[in-house]
Order: sequence, then C-alpha cells, then structure tokens
Amino acid sequence: MLFLFMLFGEAIAQIALTKIHVGITNKMDSNVTIHCKSKDDDLGIHVLSSGQSYGWGFRVNLWETTLFFCGFTTKKGGGVYNIYQARRDKTRCHGGTCLWDVKDDGVHGYVGDRTDIVFKWQ
Ligand SMILES: *[C@@H]1O[C@H](CO)[C@@H](O)[C@H](O)[C@H]1NC(C)=O
Repeated sequence: MLFLFMLFGEAIAQIALTKIHVGITNKMDSNVTIHCKSKDDDLGIHVLSSGQSYGWGFRVNLWETTLFFCGFTTKKGGGVYNIYQARRDKTRCHGGTCLWDVKDDGVHGYVGDRTDIVFKWQ
C-alpha cells in the first residue's frame, strides 16, 4: 500500500514538475566539444561550431538530486562543470530555461541577461 502510494505520488509529482531546458551556445571563434552526462544518461559527444547551440530537456526528480555535468574541450582550455544542479538551478533558471555561453575564458551562466556564474577553464 505504501509502495503504491509512493509510485503514484511520484507519478503525480513528475507530471506537476515543469520541464527544464538547458541550452549551451558556442560564443568562441573555434569549435567546442561538449560531453554531458547525468547519473543515468550519457548525452554523447557534440561538436559545436562557432555560434552553434546545443540543448536538451528533462524533468527534475522528486528528490531534487537531478544533476547534469558537462565536459568542455576548446582551443583555449577546458573543464568539467555542473551545468544543471536541481537545488542550485530550480529557482535560478527563469521559466525553466537554463542558458550558458562558452567563451574564451570559460563557461558563463545567465539569469535573464545577467551573468551570475562563470566557470573558468580548469
Ligand atoms: C569544426 O567542427 C565541424 C563539424 O561540426 C568540422 O567539420 C570542422 O572540421 C571542425 N573544425 C575544426 C578546426 O576542427
């Protein structure tokens, strides 16, 4: 009985939870290679040419432990960073859209049109 309740409880919560969309744009002059993963999903390797964007959508789990991290390889540097972290980004990303720009010095996160996170190349 408790198990059933947990199943339905989660199903209802998943429907109620808004869908999140993450978008990453290459603002560099050269290619950027991106490889994003969560605990359960490997989104594969994507090469973005200058100006190109890459994105994906998902729902945050009930426990708000959803985490996507991405590895970036560029001519200017690289690193692995948390690109969606439910507890940090649930209220941070406006309208459920989390946007990042890859620039010469690292990866920049936005809230509206204001940069609020900069991950410098490691
Ligand atoms: C950049 O990526 C494109 C494919 O997206 C590829 O055709 C091109 O050769 C790459 N350029 C360099 C300099 O690696």
